[in-house]
Amino acid sequence: MPSAYVDAVTTPGRGRWSWGVVRPRSTELLALASLFAGGPSTAEVSVLVADDWQRRGLGTLLLALAIGRARDDGVRTVHATTLSGSGHTRRMLARHGEVTSRLDGPAASLCLDLTGGAKVGQ
Ligand SMILES: CC(C)(COP(=O)(O)OP(=O)(O)OC[C@H]1O[C@@H](n2cnc3c(N)ncnc32)[C@H](O)[C@@H]1OP(=O)(O)O)[C@@H](O)C(=O)NCCC(=O)NCCS
Repeated sequence: MPSAYVDAVTTPGRGRWSWGVVRPRSTELLALASLFAGGPSTAEVSVLVADDWQRRGLGTLLLALAIGRARDDGVRTVHATTLSGSGHTRRMLARHGEVTSRLDGPAASLCLDLTGGAKVGQ
């Protein structure tokens, strides 16, 4: 987990939240999610899972925590940036609401609309 990224997303501040998963009986960070308020009703979410720990449900878990916090704070729109080929990130977000995306070179800007409520059972 790159220390510059960890420092950037865990810097305390108003409207800034982060959640981490550490290896049992260690301080090794395996996954980290953050939510930054961008305005009264928007926020930016990011999730990073260490390569060896991907596809075990950590990203889904941390994303759910971040989206729950966003809903509690009255956020209506959550933004995320990912690689343009990362369809699974879009699918993870789409379990929480409608997602629109915009390609920006190798990156995709994803926009999650929380106004429709949670998608139960997905
Ligand atoms: C995106 C990311 C956070 C997912 O974390 P994860 O812990 O691997 O995700 P999960 O194990 O909860 O899996 C979530 C879903 O994505 C799928 N998935 C995860 N990695 C995948 C991959 N490399 N290729 C295809 N599907 C993948 C899983 O199969 C799962 O689908 P399912 O729920 O239908 O079974 C992780 O791959 C990552 O850190 N990527 C780099 C950073 C990034 O792009 N973050 C997203 C921007 S917010």
